[in-house]
Amino acid sequence: MRKIVIAIDGFSSNGKSTMAKSLAKEIGYIYIDSGAMYRAVTLYCIQHDLFDGDKLNESALHNEIQNIKIEFHLNKDTGMPETYLNGVNVESVIRSMEVSSKVSQVSAVAFVRRAMVALQQEMGKAKGIVMDGRDIGTVVFPEAELKVFVTADAEIRAQRRFDELRSKGDAKTTFDEVLENLKSRDYMDQTREESPLVKADDAILLDNSYMTIDEQMQWLLNKFKQITTN
Ligand code: DC
Repeated sequence: MRKIVIAIDGFSSNGKSTMAKSLAKEIGYIYIDSGAMYRAVTLYCIQHDLFDGDKLNESALHNEIQNIKIEFHLNKDTGMPETYLNGVNVESVIRSMEVSSKVSQVSAVAFVRRAMVALQQEMGKAKGIVMDGRDIGTVVFPEAELKVFVTADAEIRAQRRFDELRSKGDAKTTFDEVLENLKSRDYMDQTREESPLVKADDAILLDNSYMTIDEQMQWLLNKFKQITTN
């Protein structure tokens, strides 16, 4: 069966990573979470004092970008790739609220995007990949054979993210903080100059507000089969 590239884009916290991961596992493809890469750069900036208060010092980051090495290594127990920043596993720490609240500034910087897009294109060269993000179907892989644009109501997305934070032991962050963060990231993702979040013309829209994970998987698998068996 021919291998294809699957691009899954959409708003934050809409479950697209869970979907993309399960799909990759089911069809034996590699899964890459492109948001994790922007999160890892953000973590580097926090660790190296590249924020003046809440504001990113872009020229300091420019001087350091070549020192930032991001890789994915397979976790043998889960069978899933995990994010490494300069050799250290940061899969969990990049999901913190501190990183979430600063990542939009970092992902809006043109030279950061150029570096990440080049890395992502390299990872997808051999096809057989499912990548999720914001600009995968528009910028990274405009030729992707299957493009999906995922959306869901903001409150439903905030509730999912809130439940995830609680289940990971964050007892502090409130639902309203999560909702605010999500709305401000939606706004920044859609209005930034560099590769704003927009649905590719040839992407299929999936509103998963009221769909179970199983229903989404079936939907995606059907699309995948239609394309690869034609
Ligand atoms: O998918 P996520 O919430 O983990 O992504 C983190 C941030 O990175 C999000 O605010 C948008 C940005 N991002 C991006 O600009 N381009 C991508 N391809 C993926 C994520």
